[in-house]
Amino acid sequence: RPRPKVPRPKVIVTRRLPQPVETRMAELFDVELNLDDSPMSAAALADAAGRCDVLVPTVTDEIDAAVLAAGAAGGRLKLLANFGVGVDHIDLSAARAHRIATTNTPGVLTDDTADMVMALILSVPRRLGEGEKLVRSGEWLGWSPTGMLGHRITGKRLGIIGMGRIGRAVATRARAFGLTVHYHNRHRLPAEVESELEATWWQNLDAMLARVDFITLNCPHTPETHHLIDARRFALMQRHAYLINAARGEIVDENALCEALAAGRIAGAGLDVFEREPAVDPRLLELPGVVLLPHMGSATFEGRQAMGEKVIANIRVWADGHRPPDLVLE
Ligand code: DGY
Repeated sequence: RPRPKVPRPKVIVTRRLPQPVETRMAELFDVELNLDDSPMSAAALADAAGRCDVLVPTVTDEIDAAVLAAGAAGGRLKLLANFGVGVDHIDLSAARAHRIATTNTPGVLTDDTADMVMALILSVPRRLGEGEKLVRSGEWLGWSPTGMLGHRITGKRLGIIGMGRIGRAVATRARAFGLTVHYHNRHRLPAEVESELEATWWQNLDAMLARVDFITLNCPHTPETHHLIDARRFALMQRHAYLINAARGEIVDENALCEALAAGRIAGAGLDVFEREPAVDPRLLELPGVVLLPHMGSATFEGRQAMGEKVIANIRVWADGHRPPDLVLE
C-alpha cells in the first residue's frame, strides 16, 4: 500500500554515531541526538518514541512494549531504524502490532565480525590474553621450551552454529587456517555453497557438539536460541573444546558456562558478548583459558560508518513512501 511521503522526518538517535553520519543525518532529517552518549533510560526512550517519526536505537536500548506503546500514543512513530544487525532488544511483535516497521544494517559488518570470531579462535587455545598479561607484568623471564604452551589450531574441527552471512565468512577464514568446517543451521546450505566451503551439515546439534573442537555461535538471539548452549549441552561437548561467542550473550547460559569452565567440562571460551552487558560474571574474570572482549565485533571505523549509511538509506527510502531495503521480517 502506498504511504504518504514524510518530507523531513523527525529522527531521534539514542547514541552518538560516527561524525559524518550525524552530519549527513542533520542535512537530511530533523534530527535530535543524545549528546551525552550514555544509554537512555526507559522513561527517556518512551519520551523520545512519543515525539518522533523515526527512532534510531542500538543494542543498548531496550525497545520494549511500553516504549512502543508510548510511540504509538504519540501518533508519529512509524520506523525503528536500528543501528546494528541484531534486533533482539526490540519487541518485534509489539512493533508490528502498532504498525511500526523495523530495519537493521545487515552485510556491512559481516567481515569485521567474522574477523573477530577468527581472532578469538586463534587467541583462546594459543593463550594470547595470558601472554599479553605476562609481558605487561614485567614477570616474563624469557623463552622456554615448555613456556606458554597452548593447543594447535590446524587440523581441528570447527562447529558453526548459524550459517548466515557471518557464519559463512567465518567458515571461509577458518579453512585458511586448516580447520575443517562443520555447521548446524535450520536449513541446509545449497550443495554448491556447501562444497565451496567444504562444510559438513549436522541436522542434530547435540551430535555436532560432541564431535567438534571449537564451537562458534553465529546465529541471532531469538526465543528459540535463548540459552541454546546450557548445562546439558556443555556436558555433551569434549573436554578439550572451546566455545566462541561474538553473537549475543543470551544464547549461552552464562552461569552454566562458568560452571562448565570451573569444572573443566570444556577447555576455554572466547567471549565478545555477555548475558547481562556490560556486567560480566565475576567468575569469568578469574578463570584461565578465557579471553574477554567488550562487544567489539563490528567496531571498525569503516563498519560503523557503513552501518550509519545503511540507517540513513533505510530512513530515506521509508520517508519517500517506499519499502526500506533492510526491513526486518518477524
Ligand atoms: C550488531 O550489529 O548486532 C552488533 O552486535 C551491535 O548491535
